[in-house]
Amino acid sequence: MRIICLVLAATMLVAAEGIAIADGSGDPAAVKKSESGEYYDKDGNPTYKIGADGTVDWYTYSGYRRYHSECHVCHGPDGMGSTYAPALKDSLKTMSYADFLGVVASGRKNISTAAENVMPAFGDNPNVACYMDDLYVYLRARANDAWPRQRPANHEDKTKEYTDAEDSCMGNKH
Ligand code: HEC
Repeated sequence: MRIICLVLAATMLVAAEGIAIADGSGDPAAVKKSESGEYYDKDGNPTYKIGADGTVDWYTYSGYRRYHSECHVCHGPDGMGSTYAPALKDSLKTMSYADFLGVVASGRKNISTAAENVMPAFGDNPNVACYMDDLYVYLRARANDAWPRQRPANHEDKTKEYTDAEDSCMGNKH
């Protein structure tokens, strides 16, 4: 009897885990936070943290702003896509953090279709290269439907550690 109960409990646990939302980087649940205010999932990938009252982590907020100044012209508002470039809200459902970094830094040219749609390389552009995690975290939240099509009104504070890292990244890239 006890064994049956254990097996049942284990099955239920697996079933519950199956329900958890996952994207190209796995389960997006935040389990750790760094000094700079960045959250990480259990695999160590950057992730979002959105409170019950709609307060977003700093990276989600910053990523929202960066996305709409650098990416939105091709990828559409809120990661929804355009006739020219794919909906990143959907791309991140299967794309891993490492693949995201690779494409954004090095760019990509679609040679499989007649259309010559080009994803520029942003590795040398400090306005993007210094904010890779911000962009990724915001888009990860969009991919998991954790954040709607709107500007975050409330966010966690920008930390001193974040500002220091930002300054040195921007300084080094200039
Ligand atoms: C000049 C237009 C343009 C801009 C600006 C642009 N992209 Fe792209 N991006 C594209 C195109 C076109 C593709 C598809 C390329 C292909 O099919 O190989 C693409 C592909 C991607 C992909 C791969 C998506 C997938 O489904 O495989 C990612 C990730 C991406 N872009 C991220 C970004 C981010 C982040 C920014 C802003 C920092 C950005 N892009 C800015 C045009 C652009």
